[in-house]
Amino acid sequence: MAEASPALSGQDGFPAETDFSRDVISGLRKSPPSIPPKYFYDTEGSRLFEAICEQPEYYLTRTEIELLECYVGEISGLVGSGCYLIEPGSGNCEKVRLLVDSLRPRSYIPIDISSEHLKLSAARLADSYPWLDIQPMTGDITDTLVLPCIPENARRVVFYPGSSIGNFEPEEARSFLGSLARIAGRGGALVIGVDLQKNTQRLNAAYNDACGITAAFNRNLLQRINRELDANLDIEAFDHRAFYNQNENRMEMHLVSNCRQSFHVDGHRFELEDGDHIHTENSYKYTIEQFQTLATAAGFAACRVWSDAEALFSLHYLEVR
Ligand code: AVJ
Repeated sequence: MAEASPALSGQDGFPAETDFSRDVISGLRKSPPSIPPKYFYDTEGSRLFEAICEQPEYYLTRTEIELLECYVGEISGLVGSGCYLIEPGSGNCEKVRLLVDSLRPRSYIPIDISSEHLKLSAARLADSYPWLDIQPMTGDITDTLVLPCIPENARRVVFYPGSSIGNFEPEEARSFLGSLARIAGRGGALVIGVDLQKNTQRLNAAYNDACGITAAFNRNLLQRINRELDANLDIEAFDHRAFYNQNENRMEMHLVSNCRQSFHVDGHRFELEDGDHIHTENSYKYTIEQFQTLATAAGFAACRVWSDAEALFSLHYLEVR
């Protein structure tokens, strides 16, 4: 008999609008002010993120796709056919296309915070792969998730590409990996993409593309606040800033106030001085060894890792211990 996964809760747990309001207001009250990066991904933000992935400076997506294309046979050999393939934060569901023909999963379960985007992406995927069973789920992957019924002894494989693990603080990353290990369960596995530490210029360029798409993505967060909350932010009064923090091994993104200003959000008033920052994202970079240590602490065994010739990006296959 099919049984619900114990590690997951809240089917269709799309975060309520009030979560957004509450998180923005409490984030702006912090010093320094910050807003969680998951709020980048409204429909417009998801579209801008996809445009980022196509920028020449943003090597992450391109390199990971290369690795998936190159090693899909080996991945399929390790994963085996007929698994339940679960993708948290599936976005446009494009990368899974590189796997499904070879992998032949029993079911594909994409989970995303952006519900419209998820529906469209899942529908496009279904068009291309009529044989594939697809069970999309809207949800915030940082909350506890409940998966649809999966037979108890089924092989569950979590696919978490894109280096989104970098958005978590290392300590949170360990606990998130732990929840992925519980989702995969005994006998399960994880295929995960992790961006690597490298030359600072290369990193800075990737988050400051010449076309200004990353800047637009960062500032869309302010537009989203104006669109969805009762707010009057002046978008022109903020500049995009992204830089590599060497001490913390992370890219940071900020919105920097370029004047003294005040604004309100859902009845709360905020003031910023010229030069004050709103911290919008951290994107941690790991070495292969650092990531394997983290995943091991979370309950995985590091089985296989692939990297490109320039060692820009890594793709890991790990099994639940
Ligand atoms: C989706 C979190 C992997 O950190 O590179 C891209 C998001 N931010 N450009 C990343 C992002 C700015 C991206 N992740």
